[in-house]
Amino acid sequence: MKDTLFFETVDSTNRVARELAGEDKPHGFAVLAGSQTAGRGRLGKAWQSPSGKGLYCTILVRPELAVEDYSKITLTTGLAVSLALEEICQLQPQLKWPNDIYISGRKCGGILVETSSLQGTGEGNFALVGIGVNINGEKGAFPAELQETATTVFIETGREYDIWSIFTGIRVRLLQLLSKMESEGFTAILNQWRERDMLQGKWMKWVTPAGDVVYGESLGVDSSGMLMVRDHAGMRHEVMSGDVTLAARL
Ligand code: BTN
Repeated sequence: MKDTLFFETVDSTNRVARELAGEDKPHGFAVLAGSQTAGRGRLGKAWQSPSGKGLYCTILVRPELAVEDYSKITLTTGLAVSLALEEICQLQPQLKWPNDIYISGRKCGGILVETSSLQGTGEGNFALVGIGVNINGEKGAFPAELQETATTVFIETGREYDIWSIFTGIRVRLLQLLSKMESEGFTAILNQWRERDMLQGKWMKWVTPAGDVVYGESLGVDSSGMLMVRDHAGMRHEVMSGDVTLAARL
């Protein structure tokens, strides 16, 4: 069993894990919380973290990867979460680039990967893999603005699940997939990710980090983990960051 620290409540497991990473915690070490008071999402959003209703964890990883490959950890984690939910809960999640887990068209989980400074040769570098999955909440427990767009494993299966079992299921799969990526490269992982790609061939809206809006068709994820989009004028874009959502075709 890998090292895990459990807290009833923390502000953010990513913040706590960053502090502990400095104390030389090993690859696979995790911080797990019953609830978070300041759970962080991507693009500065908050992550709702009610007590006992979700999985809130951060797994510290120290993979033997080149710095430029660290962005693939987010996609690899999405695949690990999906495989765990498929095998433990018999669900069929879909993955929305780069970090979202969807079930039946609604968001059920998200990933926030933060890295060490990633300067230099790679020695001592690490990534903090923050994972939030809505597990046992009922629809009415979401704030009104999320009730039509978010879901939980309970809503989808009618069953309550043991959060620890889902956590260990995700961690073991994540560590296996990272070892595979180190030894065999990213292709095998990418192929499995593509089978679950929610945006492939769909019309989507991309809000760039500068705030520009591009509408186009998703051409899927390329071998470096970037999303390829072809806009209405036929121009191809490589999406490295920003927000993407499904949109009505123009
Ligand atoms: C997103 O979809 O925007 C990412 C959400 C990530 C939430 C998890 S919950 C555990 C970990 N700690 C945090 O503060 N955030 C991540």
